Formats: sequence, C-alpha cells, structure tokens
Amino acid sequence: MTEAVSAAWQRVEAVPQRTLKELFASDPGRVTRLSQRLEWGEGEIAGGIRFDWSKTHLDEDLLAAFEALAEARGFAAQRAALLGGEKINVTEGRAAEHTAQRGVGSEAAVEEAAALHARMKLLVEAIHEGALGPVKHLIHIGIGGSALGPAMAVDALTRDLALVDVHVVSNIDGLALEQAFAACDPATTLIAVASKTFTTIETMTNAASALNWLRDNGVSDPSGRVVALTASPEKAVEWGVDETRVLPFPESVGGRYSLWSSIGFPVALAVGWDEFEAMLAGARMVDEHFRDTDGRDNLCLRAAFADQYYTSVRGCQTRAVFAYDERLALLPDYLQQLEMESNGKRVTADQRPVSGPTAPITWGGVGTDAQHAVFQLLHQGTNLVPIDFIASVAPGDALDPAHHRILLTNCFAQGAALMAGDAGEDPARHFPGDRPSATMLCDDLNAAALGALVAFHEHRTFANAVLLGINPFDQFGVELGKRMAKDMEAGGGDFDASTRALLEAAGLG
Ligand code: F6P
Repeated sequence: MTEAVSAAWQRVEAVPQRTLKELFASDPGRVTRLSQRLEWGEGEIAGGIRFDWSKTHLDEDLLAAFEALAEARGFAAQRAALLGGEKINVTEGRAAEHTAQRGVGSEAAVEEAAALHARMKLLVEAIHEGALGPVKHLIHIGIGGSALGPAMAVDALTRDLALVDVHVVSNIDGLALEQAFAACDPATTLIAVASKTFTTIETMTNAASALNWLRDNGVSDPSGRVVALTASPEKAVEWGVDETRVLPFPESVGGRYSLWSSIGFPVALAVGWDEFEAMLAGARMVDEHFRDTDGRDNLCLRAAFADQYYTSVRGCQTRAVFAYDERLALLPDYLQQLEMESNGKRVTADQRPVSGPTAPITWGGVGTDAQHAVFQLLHQGTNLVPIDFIASVAPGDALDPAHHRILLTNCFAQGAALMAGDAGEDPARHFPGDRPSATMLCDDLNAAALGALVAFHEHRTFANAVLLGINPFDQFGVELGKRMAKDMEAGGGDFDASTRALLEAAGLG
C-alpha cells in the first residue's frame, strides 16, 4: 500500500461517525445531493433510474476522503485502462473488454463485438423465421457466468411474452436436466451449449445427455439442433457443432461479464433482437456515465464508497439486495457471482496480502416475501447489514393497482423504518434504527433498465476492486475444489480420513 493510499484510508477512518438522523437534520439538501437519475432515450423509449444513496452514512467528509482514496489508487487511470482494452487482468495477462460488447471500449474490440453480434443476430433471426424448422423450446446449458446472466435476463424480460420458451440448466445433478426435458418437446427443441472454455465438466456432461435425449426421442441429427456459445470455437467444432451454429465471443470477455456477448443468445431468442439491443443500450448509457463522470458524481464509484465504508470501517460482513419486483427474483444470484467471484480475494493485484476485508457476502431476495422471513434480523439483529432496494415505478402486473401500490409502499417503508428505528415499549420492541439502505427506482423495468442495472453493478464491482487494490477479473479460488473432484472422479488423489469415509459411505470408495 502506498503512503498516499494509507493516508487516504486513515482519513476515511478518522471521519466522525454521525447517525443518519443527524445527517438528514444537518443538511436539508441531502436527498438532492445524494440522489441522481440516469436517463436514456427519447419519446416512447425514454427511461431512467433514480439512484438514492441518501440513507447511507456518506457525508461530505466521507465523500471527500473516499475521493482522495480513489485518487491515491489511480482510479481514473485504471478506468482508462479497463475501457482502453489494456491487460488489467494481470494474473492472467488479459484485458477485460465486456463494455466493448455494448459499444464502449477500444476501437478494435468494439468492431470485433459488432461483427460477432451481427453474426448472432443473423442466426437468431433465421431461427425466428423457421430456418431450423419450428423452434418452440431452447434448453440453454451452461454454468456460472454462462448461465446466471441468461437465466436472470430471460426471467426478467419474458413475463409477458416469450418468442421461445427457454430453460436454463446448470447443475450436474441430472434432476435439473430431466426437469427441462419434461417441459420440452424434443422435435421443437434447440440446445444451446454455453461455455467460455468449452471444457467445464457440468456443461459438457449435460450437453452430451441432452443430445442423447434428442436421439432417443427420434431426432435423427441431434448435433444439428445445437448452437454453441463460446470463446473456444475450435473446441465446439471438434465436439461436433457445425461452424455455422457456433457463436464465438472474445477471450477478453470474462465469464461473469458475458451476458452481453453470444452468451446472451437465449435472451435474444426469447425476447427478439431489438429487445436484446435495448438491453445493450441501457448498459452503454451506464458505461458512458462511468467513463465520463468523476468523483462522487460517478454513481458506480459513489456506491463503492458506501460499500467500502460499511465493509472496512463498520465491519459489515454481508450486504443484502432486495428487489421489490418478481422479475428480478434471480438478481441476487447473479450479483453473488459478479461480486463474490470478482472481489472475494485475499491478495492485491501485485500479489501481496490485503490489509483488510475485501468483498462482503452478497445475499438477498424478493420483497415483500423477504420481509416475512429475514427482515427481523435486519431491524433488530446484532449484524449491521447495508441494504439495496430495487423497484420499478411502472408495475409488471396488470391486476388491481393496489398490488403495485402496496409493493412500493412496503419497499419505501422498510428503508424508512430501518433508518428511523423506534423507541418501543420495552427492549424486545425497541428498534435501534440508523440502519443504512440505498434505493434504485426504475421508471419501468424494461430491457434498457435491466441492462443499466447490471452494468451499474459491474462498474460498482470494478470500482470496489480499485479502491481495494485487487484484481477483480481472475477467479483462481474455484480451481482447487475442481481439481480435487477430478482426481476423485478418476479414483485417484490423496484425501483426508473424513473424505475417504464419505466416499466409502456413498459406495464410491
Ligand atoms: O468455476 C468458475 C467458472 O470458471 C466461472 O468463472 C465461469 O463463469 C464458469 O466457471 C463457467 O465456465 P465456462 O463458461 O468456461 O464453462
């Protein structure tokens, strides 16, 4: 850690702790100062999201101290390196060019992305036009970053209508695949095999079983029903997928950042190309904001300031996200991988031990359900948990407007209650209050808003990594377990007594 960085951290830590009530009382302009809308489009496609960080403990002193930390960490240069396609994933010697998929990045990467998208669009539209015969179902097989984004986006955007019925299967547990088979007609089903490396054991095993299922159910040319989404196109061809149905994406797009690439194929197939492009456009709007805005006005950086404050200064070990919207039911799962696989690290980018906590545990759920399950702890438990609320002004349902009104009032009431607290008649009924939350309020939860929300979280994750001095783009922590499972599967490996006994008990010893 450089002297400037450690001085900046000391400055952050020295800021006097004031309660949220005090912060609101002393600054009538607080809501305006700490709420901001990002907007896009005009006329019918106009939209926006209000980001309200006023119910966090960020104040003028903290914002200034964190701005000094960002400067000491070289935030502007790191951002330029990210967007300029430099090899900022230093441990793997790679760039991280997911924003180029949305049109923001080095000229070469943006051009390559446009060419690959054009190829993907042709295939999506050809399928819609019947080039592969009637296609009613898609079984999308992938795991981690090759599944969580597509699953979340398809779930969010197809509540009204899906052009193709998509089933995302990730788990090696055969039950997951059997469930998809039960819901699909083999004669009208396509299989998408999504894997950056095209080697992941879960995906390749599931893909082989899906082909067998097609064959066993009368499909004469099962591999003719497969589309491959991968950064290793040669492996897909070797595996038997015809080149015309291989949709490549660049190696420099990380798995958990790959929704925007051909990994988003099921989204485009389900909602149509225009909607997929609207999702990219929403993300691009956030990219531009992130690229062109400095200091606290950069919403992704501002959110990271609050994240760092709660984790490093207040010792919060988790952060929670509650979407008051059924369409975002899978968002917490998606964010878990994005944030925990990116920033769950114990060494800095130059491979020295970190001096404090890195990523908190991300968890969450859907409101109002979560209120009746986990909010007790959030209001009165001994853990301080910073919370994000996400909601949409426009309803996703067409029922009595009372539904949406009650949904929104509950969302806003929770934030207010967590902050206000209540004296109560006795200690059991006492609410300490002063519990922080942030709110993201979309005009409408359409494809553009979803793209914007996801890109916001990507850049927030990156901003946190920069403030911590870590590399968010590698994930070596997943390797050891994979290696040991492989050894075990092959009947080798030198395992401890407990593990040997478990193998024995399962009849695998
Ligand atoms: O095991 C973790 C991981 O490497 C993730 O980072 C990735 O998203 C996932 O596995 C799937 O990898 P692939 O797309 O190569 O199958």
